[in-house]
This record gives sequence, C-alpha cells and structure tokens, in this order.
Amino acid sequence: MSGKHINLTLKVWRQKGAKDQGSFVEYQAKNVSEHASFLEMLDAVNEEIVAKGEEPIAFDHDCREGICGTCGFVIDGEAHGKLKATTVCQLHMRNYNDGETLTIEPFRANSFPVIKDLMVDRSAFDRIISSGGYISQNTGNPQDANAILIPKADADEAMSSATCIGCGACVAACKNASAALFTSAKISHMALLPQGAVEKNERALRMVAAMDSEGFGACTTTGACEAACPKEIQLTNISRMNRQFLGAVLTQRPKHKDGGAG
Ligand code: SF4
Ligand code: FES
Repeated sequence: MSGKHINLTLKVWRQKGAKDQGSFVEYQAKNVSEHASFLEMLDAVNEEIVAKGEEPIAFDHDCREGICGTCGFVIDGEAHGKLKATTVCQLHMRNYNDGETLTIEPFRANSFPVIKDLMVDRSAFDRIISSGGYISQNTGNPQDANAILIPKADADEAMSSATCIGCGACVAACKNASAALFTSAKISHMALLPQGAVEKNERALRMVAAMDSEGFGACTTTGACEAACPKEIQLTNISRMNRQFLGAVLTQRPKHKDGGAG
C-alpha cells in the first residue's frame, strides 16, 4: 500500500510476570506505513523479535475494531494513546511523525496486576459485574417493539452508558486508580431502563461494595477517566451511581435471618 512510511524508537515495558521487576527495552520500528494500526506496527516489531529467537512483546487484543475492550496500554503517558475517543487498536500510525520515540507501558493499578509485558489482569471488572451487573428476573421472550414505552432521553442515556467496553483505561488514567466510571456506566445502563430499574438499589449496593473490595481507589472527580475513555462515557454516570448508592443506603431495610415477609 502506498503512503508515508516512518521510523520510530519504542521504549517498551517488558515484564515476565506479576512478580518480575520489569524494565523498559528499546526497539526500532522501521518503515512503518501510516495506514498501519498501532497493534499492526507492534505485530511487525514482534516478527523481528521472533526472528531473532527472542520472546515477542505480549499485549492483549481481540476484535481490533474498538468493540471488545480487550486491548489497551499506555502510550507516552496516555491510556490508549493520544487520540481522543479511540482504542489503541483503532489508533493509526498516521498520528505519529518520523523519528519519534514512544514509551509504551501497561495500565498501572494495583487492582490490575501485570500478567506479562503490556497485559494486565482485569478480572476485577468481571467480579464487579458478577456482584450485580445483571437483571435477575426472567424478562421473558422478546416482545413486540414499543410494548414497554421508554422515554427517548432515557433510552439514549442508557445506550450511551452501555457503550462502555470494559477496557480499563479509566482506571489507568485516574490518579487514584478508581473504577467509578466503569462501575457507574454498568449500574446506569440497567437502572435507566424499566427491566433493570426494579433491582437498582440492591445492584448499586452490591457493585459499589465489590468495587471497593477489589481495592480500586476513591473517585475525586478529577475527570481524567472521562478524558481517557475511548467510548466517551460521561462523569454524569458517577453522579447517578452516587445518588443511587446513597438512596439505597438510606432506604435499606434490615435483613431478617429467617426470611419472611420483611
Ligand atoms: S468507562 Fe470507558 S475507559 Fe472505563 S472501562 Fe468503560 S469504556 Fe473503558
Ligand atoms: S482489540 Fe477489541 S477494542 Fe481493541
């Protein structure tokens, strides 16, 4: 494919596992097409590393279409790189200049331990979802369209919250390593719709408790999460989560050990 080609120096974090100390190792990315994605550029670097008989740089990826949330690392201090609202798999090399040096490292957060090189363990997110990020009633078979009327503003808001792909950039960008943006997006997208609203109090209590028990830091509303989010999830979700959580705490009824009607 025609187009501009550039040469880059990459300082890549290499770490064999969670217990390894890790360090930056320098690589040359030569003759990189401006049409290549960032991950394709790393694929080419890895081919050269493998040809030398060395271990390739490990990084997560799956769809490479900005959908699955699997990819993600920090480029020059920015989670998913410098392009706004873009996952690292959708970041293209036309955004870089010939001769640049790029520093590439994994998301840094205690709750996301490094598995290897640029890969981190984000299973803490899965545990937050398992704690309440679902609707436990059987909602039955698909109904005719518009059987349950939902105000357009609510549907739009729920859809916007549901676009969170669980990549973890919000945690990596936050100075407190808070997972508030992720958790609040997951709480919001269900609470805003009638099927999910029924359990919203219990869900907020459980998911916030799970988030805290995973060791994520507190939200101090600096907005770094919103700025780094490739899906432009908004801080308003955090306000909604806080309101719901507080409401749930205030209206919580004591649990009776013997069950019963209370
Ligand atoms: S809120 Fe944004 S940055 Fe955080 S996990 Fe969801 S998509 Fe990724
Ligand atoms: S690989 Fe799926 S979002 Fe990047």
